[in-house]
Amino acid sequence: MALTGWVLFAALVLGGSQSQVAPAAGEDRERNCSTTPYLPPTAVNTTLRLQALRRAMAPFNISAYIIPGTDAHLSEYIAERDARRAWISGFTGSAGTAVVTQTQALLWTDSRYWIQAERQMDCNWELVKDSFISSITDWLIAHLSEGEEIGFDPFLFSIDTFKAYDVRLAPANRVLKSLQDNLVDKAWTNRPPPPTDSIFRLPDSIIERTWQMKVDHIRQQMRDNPYKPTAVLLSALDETAWLFNLRGNDIPYNPFFYSYTLLTLDDIRQVHCSFVHLHTLL
Ligand SMILES: *[C@@H]1O[C@H](CO)[C@@H](O)[C@H](O)[C@H]1NC(C)=O
Ligand SMILES: *[C@@H]1O[C@H](CO)[C@@H](O)[C@H](O)[C@H]1NC(C)=O
Ligand SMILES: *[C@@H]1O[C@H](CO)[C@@H](O)[C@H](O)[C@H]1NC(C)=O
Repeated sequence: MALTGWVLFAALVLGGSQSQVAPAAGEDRERNCSTTPYLPPTAVNTTLRLQALRRAMAPFNISAYIIPGTDAHLSEYIAERDARRAWISGFTGSAGTAVVTQTQALLWTDSRYWIQAERQMDCNWELVKDSFISSITDWLIAHLSEGEEIGFDPFLFSIDTFKAYDVRLAPANRVLKSLQDNLVDKAWTNRPPPPTDSIFRLPDSIIERTWQMKVDHIRQQMRDNPYKPTAVLLSALDETAWLFNLRGNDIPYNPFFYSYTLLTLDDIRQVHCSFVHLHTLL
């Protein structure tokens, strides 16, 4: 780096440290769940939240409930309304899976997030410093008896994720039980409402291809495909946004809107949860 570079670098470092806000007392400390527990001010008290979730679990005959950190479109960035794992555990990192039983609550996450998790979770939670699904299934097999059922929300699992759990749980006779209702949502009072921002169409001046051209192209690929698919289902939010040259604002800092698209050779069906109807925009 040239000298002027170093000067600029030093100025940035000094300027940066000057503008830094000092952390409030204890915010930079991790919890200590020993006999005399210490909780930093950043920790969330999850006692009542866990009580409510366990009450919601009771009627379903499940011994454990799995709470992943994604939304129903398997988005990487999610809206606060879908941050179920963050709400139940206090841990807001972008990766991690929680498992709750009637007596225990555990969070699995990778090494990027261990310190953050120790600052955000209270002593109701145990941190497991591992992020492989096999670690979760090992724990479930060790702590649940044969025949016991493990609840999950099918909208929050890809087929691959489901298989990764099932391939280990099924031979051990621990039964995955798909529950239509999300049990965290049942427990979550004051859950943020669905977004109401509108969907907008990209101006013709900046699009490369019209949505009709893109739809034609996909249908051509369907006809050419040896499996002869009769439909294509789009559930990822960027897929529908891209295909129809539409944008939205349902997730902070993401130009997408909640939607599903079912495209057949002669029909297009869409489900979305915004107030503007897609067909009025197409
Ligand atoms: C947690 O607290 C206990 C008792 O106060 C202390 O002995 C222990 O060293 C602490 N652990 C950490 C990691 O600070
Ligand atoms: C957490 O909240 C519960 C219920 O309000 C309360 O009884 C408990 O003392 C709180 N725990 C801590 C560590 O503040
Ligand atoms: C409830 O779970 C137990 C195992 O914990 C299982 O043996 C039983 O068949 C389940 N009952 C129902 C109605 O699913």
